[in-house]
Amino acid sequence: MAFDIDMIKGVYSTIAERVDKAREIVGRPLTLSEKILYSHLWDGNPTKQFRRGKDYVDFAPDRIALQDATAQMALLQFMQAGKPKVAVPTTTHCDHLIQAKSGAAQDLSRANTSSKEVFDFLESVSNKYGLGFWRPGAGIIHQVVLENYAFPGGMMIGTDSHTVNAGGLGMVAIGVGGADAVDVMAGMPWELKFPKLIGVKLTGKISGWTSAKDVILKVAGILTVKGGTGCIVEYFGEGAKNLSCTGKGTICNMGAEIGATTSTFGYDDSMERYLRATDRSDVADAANEVREYLTADPEAYAEPEKYFDQIIEINLSELRPHLNGPFTPDLATPVGELGAKAREHGWPIDVDWGLIGSCTNSSYEDLTRAASIAKQAVDKKIKPKSDFGINPGSEQIRFTAQRDGLLQTFEDLGATIFTNACGPCIGQWDRSDLKGDEKNTIVHSFNRNFSKRADGNPNTHAFVGSPEMVAAIALSGRLDFDPMNDTLINEDGQEVKLDEPRGIELPPEGFEVEESGYVPPKEDGSSVEVKVSKDSERLQILEPFEPITNESLQGMKLLIKAFGKCTTDHISMAGPWLRYRGHLDNIANNTLIGAVNAFNKKTNFVKNQLTGEYEGVPDAQRQYKAKGIKTIVVGDHNYGEGSSREHAAMQPRHLGVAAVLVKSFARIHETNLKKQGMLALTFANEADYDLIQEDDTFNFIDIDSFSEDKPLTIEVVHADGSKDTIKANHSYNAPQINWFREGSALNVIKKENAA
Ligand code: F3S
Repeated sequence: MAFDIDMIKGVYSTIAERVDKAREIVGRPLTLSEKILYSHLWDGNPTKQFRRGKDYVDFAPDRIALQDATAQMALLQFMQAGKPKVAVPTTTHCDHLIQAKSGAAQDLSRANTSSKEVFDFLESVSNKYGLGFWRPGAGIIHQVVLENYAFPGGMMIGTDSHTVNAGGLGMVAIGVGGADAVDVMAGMPWELKFPKLIGVKLTGKISGWTSAKDVILKVAGILTVKGGTGCIVEYFGEGAKNLSCTGKGTICNMGAEIGATTSTFGYDDSMERYLRATDRSDVADAANEVREYLTADPEAYAEPEKYFDQIIEINLSELRPHLNGPFTPDLATPVGELGAKAREHGWPIDVDWGLIGSCTNSSYEDLTRAASIAKQAVDKKIKPKSDFGINPGSEQIRFTAQRDGLLQTFEDLGATIFTNACGPCIGQWDRSDLKGDEKNTIVHSFNRNFSKRADGNPNTHAFVGSPEMVAAIALSGRLDFDPMNDTLINEDGQEVKLDEPRGIELPPEGFEVEESGYVPPKEDGSSVEVKVSKDSERLQILEPFEPITNESLQGMKLLIKAFGKCTTDHISMAGPWLRYRGHLDNIANNTLIGAVNAFNKKTNFVKNQLTGEYEGVPDAQRQYKAKGIKTIVVGDHNYGEGSSREHAAMQPRHLGVAAVLVKSFARIHETNLKKQGMLALTFANEADYDLIQEDDTFNFIDIDSFSEDKPLTIEVVHADGSKDTIKANHSYNAPQINWFREGSALNVIKKENAA
C-alpha cells in the first residue's frame, strides 16, 4: 500500500535543486544527513550554511506518526487549532495501551474494552481531521511505518522516541513531543538544532550468530547512553550494504538508546528490495531516479574524517554477538563472557523469560532466524527452560509468519503469541510467574531495559539481544550459555549443539495480510463527530486558555520554590498517571508532586499562603485558582529537563500558574511554556533565587511594556512587608510575545485561521 506516492514524488522533484544548492553554499561534498536536512528547510531552497550543534533551524517534515499514549493530548490540542485537516500526512497507531497477559485474542479483546473510549476518540478524531488510523492489533507504530510510509531521503517526526526506526529506509526520522507534532499538523515549521554528525563505517559482513542487532549493541557499548546526544548517526561502508533493510531499521531504532537525534543509512539495493516486497515498487522506481541524492557524495564516505564530527569503525566479520544489560542498554558484553560477569555482580544466571519482537526486532528476517533456533529445539528434543513470548510487529508480519509456519514453530515450544503491539516492551505485561519483587533474569530482543521497564519489578534483570540469541538463551535457561561453543542436554539425555541461525530476508511468497487494521480517513470529515464522553475520566476536550492579563500578574503568590533537579517527570509524573494523559484536569492532580520544596526539602508539601497550612502542590494550587489568584513557580538550573512532554507546561497553565522563574531552562520546556501562553523567565542575577521566601507575593511592575530583548522587573514583597526588586530575563521574540498576549500559540493559529 503506497499511500502517498504523490507526496514522495514531490519531495524527489525538488531534491536535486536543493541539494545542489546546499553543496554550493557549504562549498564541499555532502553527507546523506546534510542532504536530507538541507532539502527539508521550511523556506525551501537553502540560502545559508548552518552550524552543526549551534543553529536552530526551521524544517518542513514530510509526515508525522502518533502513538496512542501520546496522540491523545496532541490531537486534543490540534482540535483547538481550528484547522479542518492536518497540514502534513499523519497517522495514529494504537499499540501502547494493550496489555500482554494470556495471548493475542484475549488480550486484544480486553484492551478493546478497557481502553475503548480512548481508541474510539482517536479513531473519530483521525477520521475528522484526515489522519490515517491503525486499529489496536494492527501493529507497532514503527514497524507499520517502515512497512508503509518510510521512504529514502524523507523527513518525518513522530511522538515516540523510536520513530528513528525509519532510518532503516534512509529517512531522517525523529522522535518529538506532542507540541511539536501539533505545530506541524497545524501547518507550522518544526524547529531543530542543526545536528552534529557521527559516521559509523561498517566493513566486512555479518555471519553465523552475529546479527544487525549486535552492531547497535556494540555501538551502544562504545558511545554509551549519552554519546549520540545532538547527533545524527550515519552508517555507511560495504558492511552497511550487506545488511537487510529491516536490519538497518533495528540499528537505527536503538539509536534512541545512545541519545542520538536519529540514525540513517544511504539508499541501496536492500532498501529497494524491501520497498518492492512491501508493495511499493512505485516508490522504489521514483527513488532510483534520484539515487545519487539519497546517499552521501562519494567523497564523504571515502574520507569521512573530513565530513563527520566523530567516526567509529566496526568490522562486521569480527563482530561477536552481544547481550547488553542489565538495567542499561549500553552495558555491552559479548555472549560467552556474560556468565563470569553475572557471577561477579550477582545477577541471576537462570533465565525466566525470552521475549521476542517489539518495534526493534520483529521483521520477517528476525522471526525466521529465531524460528530456526526454535525449530531445532523441537527436532533435537530440547525442552525449553524458559518461557517464550512473541510480539509480532504488525498484522502483516503476523499473518505472513503464521502462513509460513513460523508462529507454529514457536507455539510448538509453548510460546505465547501476544498481540501485535508493544506489550512487555512498555511495561504492559501482566506477568504471573512472580510472586513479588523477587530477583530474576529475562532476555529480550527489545531496545530498552531500564529498571521496571518490562514488568514493573525493580529486581528484574533484563538483557537485550538479537531474537535468535534470545531464543537460544531462553532454550538453555541460562545467562552463561554460549550457543557457539556450548551444548545442551536433550530429553534423551544426549548432548546436542545448536546450529547457526538461518534467516530469510523477505518472505519468498510475499507478504500477505487479510485485515491490516488500517482505517483511511473520510475525504470530508467535517460532519464527523469526535467522541468524548462528558463523564470520561481519561479524556477531556480542551478549552482554549484565556490570556494572562497584566492585572492578574499583580499580587501573585509563590506556589513552590523547587530545589535542585526538576525534570518533566517531577512536573508531570508518568507511571499510573499515564492513564490520564488525555484528561488535562485529572492529570493536573500530579502537577509538580515530584518537585522538592526548597524550604523543607519535601516533595508535594508546600505552604498554602491562603490558609498557612502545608499541603500537596495541586491542592494548594487549586485553592489559589478558586480565588482567581495567579501563582509563580521558582526553580533551579535546567528546569524542565528530561522530555518534551507538553503536559509539564499545560498542567501548571491549566491550574493557574502564570510564570515560571528559574536559574536556567531546558530549552524544549521553555518553548513549551511559551506555547501555552505563560511567562518563562530566568533570574538576571542567579543569586536572587535565594531572596525568594515561601510567603512571598509578586508584582510584575512593567509587564505593560513586555517586549523583545528587555528584561522584566518583578517586585517581591515578603511577609514582613519588606521588598526586593529583581530583574528577570526572557528569550521571547515578537511572535512569542503574541502567544502570551493571545493566551497560547494555538489561539494565535486559530485566530489567523479564522481571519
Ligand atoms: Fe513500543 Fe517498545 Fe517500540 S514501547 S514503540 S515496542 S520501544
